[in-house]
Amino acid sequence: MADHSYDYDVLIIGAGPGGYVAAIRAAQLGLKTACVESRETLGGTCLNVGCIPSKALLHASELFEEATGGHFATWGIDAKATFDLDKMLAEKTKAVGDLTGGIEFLFKKNKVTWLKGHATFEDAHTVKVGDAVHTAKDIVIATGSSVTPLPGVEVDNAAKRIVDSTGALDLPEVPEHLVVIGGGVIGLELGSVWRRLGAKVTVVEFLDQLLPGMDGEVRKEAQKIFKKQGMAMMLGHKVTGAKADKQGVKLTVEKSAGGDEQVIEASHVLVSIGRRPNTDGLALDKAGLSVNNRGQIEIDHDFATQVPGIWAIGDVAPGPMLAHKAEDEGIAVAENIAGQTGIVNHDVIPSVVYTTPEIAGVGLTEEEAKERGSIKVGKFPMMANSRAKANRDTDGFVKVIADAETDRVVGVWMINSLAGTMIAQAAQAMEFGATSEDIAYTCHAHPTHAEAFKEAAMAVTGKPIHM
Ligand code: FAD
Ligand code: NAI
Repeated sequence: MADHSYDYDVLIIGAGPGGYVAAIRAAQLGLKTACVESRETLGGTCLNVGCIPSKALLHASELFEEATGGHFATWGIDAKATFDLDKMLAEKTKAVGDLTGGIEFLFKKNKVTWLKGHATFEDAHTVKVGDAVHTAKDIVIATGSSVTPLPGVEVDNAAKRIVDSTGALDLPEVPEHLVVIGGGVIGLELGSVWRRLGAKVTVVEFLDQLLPGMDGEVRKEAQKIFKKQGMAMMLGHKVTGAKADKQGVKLTVEKSAGGDEQVIEASHVLVSIGRRPNTDGLALDKAGLSVNNRGQIEIDHDFATQVPGIWAIGDVAPGPMLAHKAEDEGIAVAENIAGQTGIVNHDVIPSVVYTTPEIAGVGLTEEEAKERGSIKVGKFPMMANSRAKANRDTDGFVKVIADAETDRVVGVWMINSLAGTMIAQAAQAMEFGATSEDIAYTCHAHPTHAEAFKEAAMAVTGKPIHM
C-alpha cells in the first residue's frame, strides 16, 4: 500500500546491475519507484565501463587471434587477418549503447523515474539531487565501486599512458609494451585483449600467484597457460613508482618483501589492483550510517542496514564484486521492501574469468573445503574429453569437490574454453543440493565439453569412464 507522505515508495541510488534491477523489480511489485544515477547512461560500471565493453573486446580480439595465431592454422585455414582498431573500439561502444539504451527502455516500460544527478542524503528518508529534494519510505544504496588507486602510480585516462580499466578499454593504439599492475581478473582479461592484438604484456603481481580467491590448482594451471600464451609474469613483485611522459612510462619495481629496485620501461601501464566501494559524497552520516573498515556498508541477511528503511546491495555491500551478485541482491531487496521474502544464497555465486581458456568456479575452493572437513575430489582433464579433443581445444580440467560423508557438492572449479557457460550447471546443481552421484548419473549430451563435468563427478567416487 503506497504511503502518500513520501514522494516515492522506493528510491534507489545508483543504476548499475544492483540498482537498475532493484528498481525494475520494485516497480513490477507495484511500488512507486525512482532511481538516481549520475552517469549520462544507465547500467553502472558493468554496462558502461565493465563487463560489457570488456567482453566485447575479448570477443573481437579472440576472433583476431584465432585467425592469426590460433586455431585457423591448425585446421589449414589461411586467413591473413588484419584489424582496424578504431572500428573495433567503435563496435564495442555500439554494443554498450545498445545495452544501456535497453535499460532506459525498461525503465520507461516499468514506469521507473530516472532522477539524473548525484544523490546526497539529507536524512534517512530524504535525498538531494542537484537542487531538488526527494523523499522515499525506503532507500536502497547501490552506488557500486570504483578503481582502487595505487600511491605513486597516478592514473591519467586522458593522457592514455597510465590507465585504469576504463582507460584500457579505449587505448587509441596497441601498446608496444603494456605493464599490468595486479594479476587479478581485470589485469588478465584486459591484458589478454591487448596481448592478442599484438602488445607485449608483463603482469606485476604482489602475491606469488595470480587470481587470489580462486582454487589453488586452477590458479597454477592458469599461470602456466598465460605464460605459454606469451604473458611475462613478475610474481611476488610490487611497483613502487611510475613516471609517464609522452613517449612512455618508467616504472620502479621491487620484490614484495622489499629489496633492490629495478626499472622497467613500458609504453602503457594498466593499474588493476582491485576496486573499493563508492560512498564518498553520499553524506551517509546525515542518514545515521557509517562504513566498516573495508569502506563497505554493513547489511543483514535481508540487505537492511542498521538504519530502518535504508538498504544496501551490490559492490558497496560486503561480498564478491560481481554483476550477477548485485542483480540477485537487487531482486531480493525489492521483494523484501515489498513485504515478500527475498533471499540470495551467497554460498552459490559463480565467478568467471573470460580469458582463453575461461576460468570459472562456484562454492568452496579445495583449500577452503579441506579446512571445513573431510572431502573427496574428482578431476577430469579436457585432454580426455572427446569434443575438446575433436576441436583441438584440450587445455584445462574440471574439478568437483564433495563432502566425504554426504557426497554433497561443495565446490566446482574449471578451466576450459567453455567454463563460463558450463559453471551455470554446477551452480544449479549446488543450489538443488546435488551430490556428485546426482551429477554423475545425469545424462549429458555427447559430444560436449559438459561431459567433462559429469566425468569429474564420476571421478569423486573413482569411476570415470574415459580416463
Ligand atoms: P555499479 O555497476 O558500480 O553501479 C553503481 C552506479 O551508481 C554507477 O553508475 C554510479 O555512477 C552510480 N552512483 C554512485 N554514487 C552515486 C550517487 N551518489 N548518486 C547517483 N549515482 C551514483 N562483473 C561480472 O560479474 N562479470 C564481468 O564480466 C565483469 N567484468 C568487469 C570488467 C571491468 C573492467 C570492471 C571494472 C568490472 C567488471 N565486473 C564484472 C564487476 C561489475 O561491473 C560490478 O560488480 C557491478 O557493476 C556492480 O554493480 P553495482 O550495481 O553494485 O554497482
Ligand atoms: P582483483 O582483486 O581481482 O585483483 C587485484 C590483484 O592485484 C590481486 O591479485 C592483488 O594481489 C594484486 N595487487 C594488489 N595490490 C598490488 C600491488 N600494489 N602491486 C601488484 N599487485 C597488487 O581486482 P581487479 O582485477 O582490479 O578487479 C576488481 C574486481 O572487479 C574483481 O575483484 C571482480 O570482482 C570484478 N571483475 C570481475 C570480472 C569478472 O567477473 N569476469 C572481470 C573484471 C572485474
